[in-house]
Amino acid sequence: MKLASVSTLALAGLASAFTYERLDKNNSLLLIVDMQDGLFSLARDYDAIQYKNAMYAHAELGQIFDLPVVMTTSAETGPNGPLPNEFLEMYPNATLVRRNGEVNAWDNPEFRDAVIAANKTQIIMAGIVTDVCTTFLALSLREAGYSVWANHEASGTTSEYIRDMANNRMRDAGVQVVSYFAIVCELMRDWRNTPGSVELLSVLDKYLPAYGFVMRGHRAAVENGALLPGEQNVP
Ligand SMILES: *[C@@H]1O[C@H](CO)[C@@H](O)[C@H](O)[C@H]1NC(C)=O
Ligand SMILES: *[C@@H]1O[C@H](CO)[C@@H](O)[C@H](O)[C@H]1NC(C)=O
Ligand SMILES: *[C@@H]1O[C@H](CO)[C@@H](O)[C@H](O)[C@H]1NC(C)=O
Repeated sequence: MKLASVSTLALAGLASAFTYERLDKNNSLLLIVDMQDGLFSLARDYDAIQYKNAMYAHAELGQIFDLPVVMTTSAETGPNGPLPNEFLEMYPNATLVRRNGEVNAWDNPEFRDAVIAANKTQIIMAGIVTDVCTTFLALSLREAGYSVWANHEASGTTSEYIRDMANNRMRDAGVQVVSYFAIVCELMRDWRNTPGSVELLSVLDKYLPAYGFVMRGHRAAVENGALLPGEQNVP
């Protein structure tokens, strides 16, 4: 019955050297790391509108897939500032660890305890800045035995070159450096699941407009569409 997940090589009797670990929504914890109002301007590797969109898309993953969430900030009463109010309103009951010095969130015992207490082995994370706050924590989580998915669209830093080097460093440590859409689809697995297309198409319209507008066009065509003269001649 598991034929679909068995590789062709394995079917041919050869040992597979690779195990594809998929995100499991029952076993995942979402981390929102230092996405603070004052740090937002350090995310210069993306256009500000694009980055804000990616950050909010990342934060909403917890709501959509009903994942436990742990949030943390660094020196938030100083220039780094607080998390966006929308995040605090989204997760009024989530643990928010306000670090007063530790650069690597894993060095903070309260944060570490919150991650351990969630009792999940798969961590989905992003933060500002990619090369420090995201990378240091991702490496510590790998060292502690966790599987880590770093949402590379929702981490921001000071240049594209620095971002690419940081993502390489994480990948070298076995971190899965993945896009928002990859995370959504790996958590969802099948459009017929819950959450599936019913719950997710409006979310994707908001955060992945490239697909959202295909759906809008398709809906318009189904509800009120007609072929233009000549369209039926296109192969
Ligand atoms: C998650 O748990 C639910 C309910 O126990 C189960 O139906 C579902 O198959 C699980 N999902 C995965 C990906 O294992
Ligand atoms: C937060 O906890 C309170 C008290 O247990 C509960 O009433 C409320 O629904 C929770 N809010 C969310 C968003 O989970
Ligand atoms: C942690 O998760 C495992 C696997 O789901 C479960 O068997 C165990 O009871 C959980 N431990 C706690 C303390 O909740």
